[in-house]
Amino acid sequence: MTDSPTPDLVGRSAAARDAALLARLDPSRPATLVRAPGRVNLIGEHTDYNQGFVLPAAIDLEVWIAAEPWDLPRVELTSLELGETCSFEFDNLGLASREAASWIDYVAGTAWAMREAGLPLRGFRGVLDSTIPVGSGLSSSAALEMASSWALAEPSAERPSPSRMAAIAQRGENAYVGVNCGIMDQFASAAGEAGHSLLIDCRVNEFRPAPIPSGLSIVVCDTGSPRRLSSSEYNTRRSECEEGVAVIAEREQGVTALRDVDAAMLARNRSRLREVVARRCQHIVEEDARVAATVTAMAAGDLAEVGRLFAASHASLRDLYEVSSPALDAMVEIAEGVPGVVASRMTGAGFGGCTVNLVRYGAEQALRERVMSEYPARMGLQPRVWIVAAVDGAGPMPPPAA
Ligand code: GLA
Repeated sequence: MTDSPTPDLVGRSAAARDAALLARLDPSRPATLVRAPGRVNLIGEHTDYNQGFVLPAAIDLEVWIAAEPWDLPRVELTSLELGETCSFEFDNLGLASREAASWIDYVAGTAWAMREAGLPLRGFRGVLDSTIPVGSGLSSSAALEMASSWALAEPSAERPSPSRMAAIAQRGENAYVGVNCGIMDQFASAAGEAGHSLLIDCRVNEFRPAPIPSGLSIVVCDTGSPRRLSSSEYNTRRSECEEGVAVIAEREQGVTALRDVDAAMLARNRSRLREVVARRCQHIVEEDARVAATVTAMAAGDLAEVGRLFAASHASLRDLYEVSSPALDAMVEIAEGVPGVVASRMTGAGFGGCTVNLVRYGAEQALRERVMSEYPARMGLQPRVWIVAAVDGAGPMPPPAA
């Protein structure tokens, strides 16, 4: 996908965009339009696969699919951004080893996982568009999966809850596409609530909405740096966490994930851990506590405390978990020097990608201008800045007005 929206959709209203998508299908046949948002994580990084807590928000950078159902057990989908049509058959969804993942694999993987979960599938011919930048850590893949889950669903079948559907899509991404992600991205895209972040307990896959404090905007700054090594380093972090759990569980009752470990328990066992594993575990234990503290501080309107928690999270991801990068560190430093920026940290898996910033109303443009002028000079990279809104999770859209 490219940085800019498809040219003929630029600057149009949402209704015009919907109409433009539907116009690419056969007007004599009924078509449905579904959308799914990307996400930004406020805090709780790398905690999801440790059965801990995360605090993401679904955002108004989104994927849309206009789908014309047909009776064939087959999907044929055209990406407007890539100008590419891909297809797959429901009868041919085996787990054969695949070459590097193509965008259609995320759709096929969702179909595969839905079928494995016993959900009936419906074939369709469709058109796909997206405003979520690919490779920036804003979960374009998870959004594509969640939009696909709606487009593929047999309308007469009972739909699983958003959290269950997220788990099904995550299974597709893990087993079919071969990406070892946690559940946060699919969950946020499926269950998002306008104006809110979601406090998700990744052990039981339950959530409660936590309002974004009034008077604050969410601003996402893209470092423009590719997320190099992200999947191999991501998998290494996961196994280091598993190693920590195995060692701690030898001496401690009831420990099956880092979620079960607190600071005192970690201190008791620290000398038995490899030094690097001890640092990884410390990040997870403290980050879980920061998520709870952030929800409390947001509810109390204690923005100074939210700022401290974001800064501590970023430092921990940089120094203990080692998933930040010079570009992410520079972006956070620049933001922290802008009056009205309340909190700033890297967001997502790391190794490049974006920062998330909570910014007082009216200070958004100052942040944008500072980033646009200082960051390229400092890093030699082209940044992008989005002022985003927290929106509802994936689902069908009403037909556009004629
Ligand atoms: C990626 C993964 C998520 C989560 C984050 C780090 O976005 O897909 O499951 O692990 O990294 O918090």
